[in-house]
Amino acid sequence: MSTKSAKHAIDIGINEKDRKAIAQGLSALLADSYSLYLMTHNFHWNVTGPHFNTLHTMFMAQYTEQWAALDLIAERIRALGEHAPGTYKEFAKLTSIEEVAGTPKAMEMVRLLIKAQESTARTARKLFSVVEKAKDQPTADLLTQRQDIHEKTAWMLRSLLED
Ligand SMILES: [Fe+2]
Repeated sequence: MSTKSAKHAIDIGINEKDRKAIAQGLSALLADSYSLYLMTHNFHWNVTGPHFNTLHTMFMAQYTEQWAALDLIAERIRALGEHAPGTYKEFAKLTSIEEVAGTPKAMEMVRLLIKAQESTARTARKLFSVVEKAKDQPTADLLTQRQDIHEKTAWMLRSLLED
């Protein structure tokens, strides 16, 4: 217990294999979250049509919340002893969200955001089994909060498509 490296080694009660698996899952969630953030901000800038004001304002609330979440996810990865991805190249490789080309019509933007919100929720949900097995409560708490917000936001967006 008195090796030189022990001073810097991480020992939070989660084995290395689980820590790395959780950090990898959180990196995928960070990539989805960043892609979703950027898509939402893009649509805030470029939305047009009779629902401009509603959607412009709604998208702002969504990208603002999404922006704040990026930091929580990245810093959880760091607390688990791994490096957080932080480049477009890494995000493009890790994300499950397809980049949007051009400027879609307003209701198509809503449909694309629903898909991206649901995809991000699924990425978070996928990670639960290893997190529960490792008794990683802080990550479980973070995942619960993220799933709640993505599912709620998807519901609000879906409601816009109904009469
Ligand atoms: Fe703005």
